[in-house]
Amino acid sequence: MASSVATRLLLLLAAVVALTMPVSAWRRPMRVKVYVQEYLGNGSETTEKVLVRGPGPANPSLYPPNNLFGDTLVMDDLVTESPDNTSAPVGRVYGTYMVSSMNRSVHVVSFTLLLTTGRYNGSTIVMGGIDDSSAVLEHAVIGGTAAFRGAQGHVIGKVVKAYSPTHVVMELDVYASVPVPWTQAEEEAPASPLIIDH
Ligand SMILES: *[C@@H]1O[C@H](CO)[C@@H](O)[C@H](O)[C@H]1NC(C)=O
Ligand SMILES: *[C@@H]1O[C@H](CO)[C@@H](O)[C@H](O)[C@H]1NC(C)=O
Ligand SMILES: *[C@@H]1O[C@H](CO)[C@@H](O)[C@H](O)[C@H]1NC(C)=O
Ligand SMILES: *[C@@H]1O[C@H](CO)[C@@H](O)[C@H](O)[C@H]1NC(C)=O
Repeated sequence: MASSVATRLLLLLAAVVALTMPVSAWRRPMRVKVYVQEYLGNGSETTEKVLVRGPGPANPSLYPPNNLFGDTLVMDDLVTESPDNTSAPVGRVYGTYMVSSMNRSVHVVSFTLLLTTGRYNGSTIVMGGIDDSSAVLEHAVIGGTAAFRGAQGHVIGKVVKAYSPTHVVMELDVYASVPVPWTQAEEEAPASPLIIDH
C-alpha cells in the first residue's frame, strides 16, 4: 500500500516536472501588483488630461456625455503600493486613452508602468489593448525594459476604490514572464546561419 502511494506520488511529481520544465527552463514568471491613482476632471490635481478633441461623432454610450470619437487623454498617474493614496509611491503610469468606437463604450489604451522603487526600480512594463465597459479589464503585456526585457503576459485591471467621481483607484495585477539568460552552453552553440550576429 505504502509503496503504491509512493509510486503514485513519484509519477505525479514526474508529470509536474515534465509539464513545468519546458516553460521554466526558458522563461521566468514575474508578478507585480500595484495601484494607479487616477485623478480625473478639471482640478489642479488632475493627472489625466484631454490631449486631442476627436472629430466625432458624439459617442452615445459614454458617460458623462459629450465624448467624441477620437477624444484622447494623456495620463501621468501616481502608482502606489496599496489602494490608499497616502501609501508608498512605487511608480508612475504614462500613456494615452482614446475613444475608439463611434457608438460603443470602447477606448484603445496604451500605457507604460515605470517602477521607481524596490527590486524592479527603473524597469518598465509596456501594456496595451482596449477598455470596454467590463468591470475587469485585461490588457496585453507587450514588452518591457531592464528586469522586464522581453516580457510577455497579461495584466488584469479593476477599479478597487473610488474616493470621488474624479478620483478612482485601479488595481493592476501583472502576470508576465521574461526570458531567462542564456546558459554558457547555449552561448557557445554554433549560431544558425539564419541569425545575423554582429
Ligand atoms: C470641466 O470644465 C469644463 C469647462 O469649464 C466644464 O464644461 C466641465 O463640466 C468640467 N468637467 C468637470 C468634470 O468638472
Ligand atoms: C488622497 O485623495 C484624497 C481624495 O481625492 C485627496 O483629497 C488627498 O489630497 C489625496 N492625498 C494625497 C497625499 O494625494
Ligand atoms: C454603430 O455604428 C456602426 C457604424 O456606423 C453602425 O453600423 C452600427 O449599426 C451602430 N451600432 C449601434 C448600436 O448604434
Ligand atoms: C531608484 O533608482 C534611481 C536611479 O538609479 C535612484 O536614484 C533611486 O534612489 C532609486 N530609488 C530607490 C527607492 O531605490
